[in-house]
Amino acid sequence: MRIVLLGAPGSGKGTQSQRLVQRFGIPQISTGDLLRSAVKRGTPLGIAAKDAMQSGKLVDDSIVLGMIRERLSQSDTATGFILDGFPRNLAQANALDAMLGEVGQPLTAVVLMEVDNVELTRRIAGRRSCPNCGTVYNIYSMTLGSDLRCTNCAERPALVQRPDDNEETVIHRLRVYDEQTRPLVAYYRGKGLLRTIDAQADVDAVTTALVSALSQPAEGTARRKRVSGKAPPKRKAPPKRKVAAKRKVATKRKVPTKRKVATKRQSAAKRKVAAKRKTAPARKTVARRKVGARRKLATSRGKRSASRSRRPARKSTRRR
Ligand code: AP5
Repeated sequence: MRIVLLGAPGSGKGTQSQRLVQRFGIPQISTGDLLRSAVKRGTPLGIAAKDAMQSGKLVDDSIVLGMIRERLSQSDTATGFILDGFPRNLAQANALDAMLGEVGQPLTAVVLMEVDNVELTRRIAGRRSCPNCGTVYNIYSMTLGSDLRCTNCAERPALVQRPDDNEETVIHRLRVYDEQTRPLVAYYRGKGLLRTIDAQADVDAVTTALVSALSQPAEGTARRKRVSGKAPPKRKAPPKRKVAAKRKVATKRKVPTKRKVATKRQSAAKRKVAAKRKTAPARKTVARRKVGARRKLATSRGKRSASRSRRPARKSTRRR
């Protein structure tokens, strides 16, 4: 298992990393812890990193990458590791890929732990840790008593608050996360490594979600397979009864088609014409009647002219 836990400050990367260490027996590599230890010891690296850490900025890539290279070369990482707080920008992600590529041991999973900003701020404000053993506590989710002391160490040292856990620095750290670290979500999704979990729930529920996500395929992997040529799974045919019922409903709902509407209009027009014919005489009849009338007229004219020719000529009254 070579895992990266990705998430904003206070999302629980450190807390969950420790649980994965116990579960899988692989080491946690936290760049934040390594840097804090260097600052505490006053090493040149620590001195160089101190200012950036206290103001909530990212420490220079060259410092962090040197530290990671050195840590990954140790023998306990041979069976796997959990990277907590690294990589934090695209340059670090590319450098990590190259480093792991050299030894032929690429990452196996990246888990994005999502928590909203209100909860992140609350968790960071309530965080306390033991200066001796480093155990992390939270005043809001644990019954620590009023004196806030470590329950793990025999001498019970008083718990301390991290110098970068003040309100002003937290706002800056959240902004740095959005601008520089969030682009890694798309980067690792593109590589087919990303899993996303809701890390807003209580610590145990988040552990369950995290362990389950590690055994699931990465986001977008199914789609990638389909694109690569494998046929998508066939859709299950619905049971016959359902199909018949659907058809019935559809028939009831059927709206008359344009053709049917046109046919109905035509037949209505035909009916009108037929009704007119019933009341009005047919064309032929009208024509016959006309012919008959004309003949009658001609006959009567003929009779009149015949009777005129039979009449004696009138005497001329004109004087000669
Ligand atoms: P780092 O130490 O990595 O800090 P961070 O990324 O800001 O993350 P945190 O440690 O604040 O939060 P976390 O997600 O580990 O949460 P935790 O489990 O503690 O970095 C510090 C600084 O170092 C950086 O600002 C930067 O300057 C420098 N740095 C580090 N890495 C670098 C890199 N790669 N490149 C450049 N610079 C780098 O939980 C938080 C609190 O919430 C705890 O109190 C915990 O008890 C509580 N809690 C956890 N889970 C839950 C839960 N589910 N419900 C309720 N409470 C919870």
